[in-house]
Amino acid sequence: MINKGIILAGGMGTRMSPLTKAVNKQLLPIYDKPLIYYPLSILMLAKIKNILIIVNKGQLNQFKKLIPNGKNLGINISYAEQSKPRGLPDAFIVGEKFIEKSNVALILGDNFFYGQNLTTKLQSCSKLSKGAKVLLHTVSKPELYGVAKVNSRNKILKIKEKPKKFISNYAITGLYFFDNKVIKFSKQLKPSARKEIEIVDLLNKYKKNNNLYADFIGRGGAWLDTGSIDDFYKTASFVAAIENRQGLKIACLEEIAYLNKWITKKHIHNAIKFYGNCDYSKYLKKIASK
Ligand code: G1P
Repeated sequence: MINKGIILAGGMGTRMSPLTKAVNKQLLPIYDKPLIYYPLSILMLAKIKNILIIVNKGQLNQFKKLIPNGKNLGINISYAEQSKPRGLPDAFIVGEKFIEKSNVALILGDNFFYGQNLTTKLQSCSKLSKGAKVLLHTVSKPELYGVAKVNSRNKILKIKEKPKKFISNYAITGLYFFDNKVIKFSKQLKPSARKEIEIVDLLNKYKKNNNLYADFIGRGGAWLDTGSIDDFYKTASFVAAIENRQGLKIACLEEIAYLNKWITKKHIHNAIKFYGNCDYSKYLKKIASK
């Protein structure tokens, strides 16, 4: 059972410069809320209540203004600073004290997930007791991602980071579930040509031990990228289209916490005071009046 999760919200922020010169990308808006709300909502939907957010050195105060400690959401949020990005598995080295003896989920701070049955899938993934699990999703440009080749029984045969030669359309999304060996394995990794330790090398260690499992976000689900400025705005338009059509918000943290019974209406009223007079507060008012 996984009850700890890490959000990796560091990174150089060069791909979206100058937008990210002064502000961390995860604090920029995807439509009506900061990007960080989306990966955080995913961990909360997976019923993970202990969360470590890894941020770049010097950016802690910005994040804490928005998400102080999680008490308002009925969860525990702590922070760690990363002096420089050393690759995704560094999250488990920076987060060693937080993880202790537990199993742990990792979500990349810029990943967006949406879809029917997603919550059920997330909750089943967080039941992992041994090995590692990745979520795969079909994409048109697999060469931009970590890619997995699977056989007809969904066993992973091969994984490769940004393969130049086509091996499969299944991208490895930025949401991973690991047993506690992840700390030991991450420490054993050697930097790649781009001078970072690589998530695929970590996953390959699990694969070698026959302990790497795959699940899928089917075509009815969405895994969107916020890597480039164009992708960022496409994701924002997606959220705007769904939210305006349904009158329901994606990644409203207080709503998720309330529906999980982690907070009461009192917390929602406090949140309304915190956010002030805005559409997000109007939405919270509706939830509190139900
Ligand atoms: C990273 C991982 C890649 C994964 C992707 C998901 O890529 O290295 O395996 O598919 O995140 O967002 P990067 O963002 O470093 O290009």
